[in-house]
Amino acid sequence: MCGIVGYVGNKPAVPILLEGLKRLEYRGYDSAGIALAEIGRLIVQKKIGKVSQLEKELNSFNVVAAGIGHTRWATHGAPSDINAHPHTDCKNEIALIHNGIIENYNAIRTKLEKDGHVFKSATDTEALVHLIEEMKKYSGDLETAVRLALRQVEGTYGIAVISSKEPDKIIAARKGSPLIIGIGENENFLASDAAAIVDYTRKVVYLEDGEIAVICKNSVDTKTIDNKTTEKQVEQVTIDLAQIEKGGFSHFMLKEIMEQPETLRNAMRGRVLLEEGNAKLSGLDGVKSVLENAQRIILAACGTSWHAGLVGEYMLEQYGKVSVETEYASEFRYRDPIVKPGDVVFLISQSGETADTLAALHEAKQKGAAVLGICNVVGSTIARESDGGVYIHAGPEIGVASTKAFTSQLVVLSLVTLLIARQRGMSEKEGRNICAKLLELPQKVQAILHRATEIEKIAEELKDSSNFLYLGRGYNFPVALEGALKLKEISYIHAEGYPAAEMKHGPIALIDENMPVVVIAPKDRTYEKIISNIQEVKARHGKVIAIVNEVDPRIAALADYLIQVPETADFLSPVLTIIPLQLLAYYIAVKRGCNIDQPRNLAKSVTVE
Ligand code: G6P
Repeated sequence: MCGIVGYVGNKPAVPILLEGLKRLEYRGYDSAGIALAEIGRLIVQKKIGKVSQLEKELNSFNVVAAGIGHTRWATHGAPSDINAHPHTDCKNEIALIHNGIIENYNAIRTKLEKDGHVFKSATDTEALVHLIEEMKKYSGDLETAVRLALRQVEGTYGIAVISSKEPDKIIAARKGSPLIIGIGENENFLASDAAAIVDYTRKVVYLEDGEIAVICKNSVDTKTIDNKTTEKQVEQVTIDLAQIEKGGFSHFMLKEIMEQPETLRNAMRGRVLLEEGNAKLSGLDGVKSVLENAQRIILAACGTSWHAGLVGEYMLEQYGKVSVETEYASEFRYRDPIVKPGDVVFLISQSGETADTLAALHEAKQKGAAVLGICNVVGSTIARESDGGVYIHAGPEIGVASTKAFTSQLVVLSLVTLLIARQRGMSEKEGRNICAKLLELPQKVQAILHRATEIEKIAEELKDSSNFLYLGRGYNFPVALEGALKLKEISYIHAEGYPAAEMKHGPIALIDENMPVVVIAPKDRTYEKIISNIQEVKARHGKVIAIVNEVDPRIAALADYLIQVPETADFLSPVLTIIPLQLLAYYIAVKRGCNIDQPRNLAKSVTVE
């Protein structure tokens, strides 16, 4: 959500800022802007639309100056040139970009307007830049003014500020929105996401909540908001550039779908102990006894990660024999949940930055539970603030609709399940059987991917439908939710996921010859029941797209389209059944001419509540 990039050094800033913004565009893309600070002059250019729109208008390509750039996902104030960041003060000396929400902006604005400040935009952010201007009257220097202003601010922020009075530096600060400082030679960088700066440096410093950084070309000083110096460690980012490029695919989403055999191998590498029938998850070593003794496990997440959590709940209860609840992170925090010391709360998040999931972590920690992260982004806030956890190692996921992260989350949850189940009495033999099934998954996913053209043909026939229903039972009920979410996100077709048996309690009223119904029907213990559900759909002339293990003549006689996936253990079946649904959503969206990697109104990483 909103991308931030900054540069101080001896090179022209604009090309570096632009490259960074393009890499960050998946985080937000309704408008973009840059600001450069020279002695006595601030250059600000901003534009509604994508970074490419801004690029067409830019004319400061050769200016060597400290610069900041922003790509926006609107919260307060509709997307427009004026509401785009950077925002400036009355004298046009200070420019600020911001990720997050200033919750008390109205009160700040009203007071500052009374004091004579003139506001240009409808954003919460502009209040902060005027407040800094006001504080400068007392402090003189920019850093102190930023610190004084931030003490009056409620809400969340990752900010970057420059001034034409002190053009040699960027002031950055964070509370609830990630910021990373890239360390170069005679140059330094700032970004909300490492992807923006890995072209230039791999050395980074993670800013913590409550910290302010003064970034000059030869120095980076960090302090707390109370002006106490903090010592920072320089860390290495390991992202490979090829991972954040499309590599010949027409969209990141397709690339990421196709990468799944490899990403699943990466999620399992070194962790599946076939001989012992167990899982080795080093990030959980420190909490082994906590896991063993936990009376209750809570899985908190949002979006696709929440769907993975639901599958995890089924697995952990069936095999781990422990009571599990899956919670929307956003609800968990506000409903005063009962969490006790001894409980274990897993936070599942691809980005590791989702504001609601992070808030759930804080809530659980404060109530004494052990908090464990299942994250993709290494070094992300949730990963760093957890007591332990497991990285899913899916590599950077750029497509806004999550695909490879979902299947890797499922595999990691299976490994966690195996570990806990073995602690609680699962036999070595059963453990070995699960390990073997896990290791077979990548090649089975590959076999489904080979069917992409078949699925593309189905997409062609269904692309003009206005509604879809997705039905699944047991482990495949969350897959029905996830399949429907994929379609909604990128093709803007209304779709609903339902437990197949619940169809009779409402959605059946919607079924007619225009309603495609995707039924996930692998050969598991609910197979016979789901055949009856298919019959109910056909009796009302719905079009059935069935995901099956084998071409059973009974389903073949009923379904309009069949997509085969290999058999596996029931609890691993979602890793396979979701693949055709990802492809179906992808091809339908392509055929409808939608923007696959940047669907309207969505953002990859939601760092506001
Ligand atoms: C956004 C993304 C989804 C993602 C959700 C949770 O809505 O568009 O793809 O599932 O956030 O994100 P997280 O990074 O916490 O998994």
